Parts: sequence; structure tokens; C-alpha cells
Amino acid sequence: MSNDGVNAGRRRFLVAATSVVGAAGAVGAATPFVGSWFPSAKAKAAGAPVKVNIAKVEPGQQMIAEWRGQPVFIVRRTDEILANLGKLESIVADPESAASVQPEYVDKKTRAIKPELLVLVGLCTHLGCSPSFRPEVAPADLGADWVGGYFCPCHGSKYDLAGRVYKAQPAPLNLPVPPHSYESDEVIVIGVDQEKA
Ligand code: FES
Repeated sequence: MSNDGVNAGRRRFLVAATSVVGAAGAVGAATPFVGSWFPSAKAKAAGAPVKVNIAKVEPGQQMIAEWRGQPVFIVRRTDEILANLGKLESIVADPESAASVQPEYVDKKTRAIKPELLVLVGLCTHLGCSPSFRPEVAPADLGADWVGGYFCPCHGSKYDLAGRVYKAQPAPLNLPVPPHSYESDEVIVIGVDQEKA
């Protein structure tokens, strides 16, 4: 992966983070707890929740929010992406995330509350780089078998579009699914568990 790719990824992250600032500001009056985009250090350490409006995320696209200083990937998965998850079960190391971090209330296979909406902490479980979103099928650099996923530019770990790491990668675990819930069809609250929403 060239530096251009890394920088482009960072730019996308900054743009998305900026759009989330607007969303957080807009709900501030009604919800004082998330009214300030920059929570206090104490609140940050406790994992202050972040509300993210996902209305503009098209099928097959990803947006990146920020929670506790970490990128959070949100992908609107297509039927094709969901169908491919089943085909990858023998390729990924931990297909049901038995050893990986995900809340009990997400489906074991899709790793989501709603199958079409994937929410992941976007930090590689190897050494913490932010993997690149690579949804395209069979790109030249990832090979003919690639059906879309995440590629870590630091040491090459591959994940599928449920954040499940492929076998025999530097990364040992799947990308974590953070606690999250739905305030409405268009608003995800990251940092608040579904049953407490
Ligand atoms: S940090 Fe991702 S493979 Fe090493």
C-alpha cells in the first residue's frame, strides 16, 4: 500500500469525523450528555457515547466516526456482501468471534444488530493501525479470491466485511464490535449497549 493510500484513508477519516461533529452538535440541546463534542478527560476515559447519523451512508459504503479517540467503521452492507460472509467461514480464523470482542446482543455470524449495518472499532488487532476499507471484488493487489474486506497497510492483515480476520495473519483477533444501539433507524449510539438504550 503506498503512502498515497494511507493518506487518502486518513483524509476520509478526517472528513467523516468532521461530519460527526455536526451531528453531535445538532443533538446537543436535547441530549446534554453528548452535547459537547470534546468530552472531559474523565468522560472520555469512561467512554462517553457518540451519536452518529447514518442516513447518508449508501449500500456498499463506509463512514468513519470517532469514539473514545478511536475510529469506528460503519458499513451499510449489501445482500451480496452478506452472502459472501457465509462463503468465508473456512477462510477466517474465528468465524463466530469466540475469542474476539463483540457484545452478546450482536448476531454471531453477521456481528451486527441489523445485518445490513456493520459497526467496528477500526484498529487492527495486531499493532493498532487502521485497516483500509477495500470493498471491491478481485482488485489486482489483493487477488482474484478477494470479495471485499479490510486490508491493514502496516503488515498486511486481511479481514472480511464482518471484521473477521483471515487465518494465518499477523493480527490474532477479529476487529472488535463496540457497544452500540439504535436511537432510530438513522441514528446509532456508539458506547451505549442495545439493552440499555
Ligand atoms: S498493525 Fe495491522 S497487520 Fe500489523
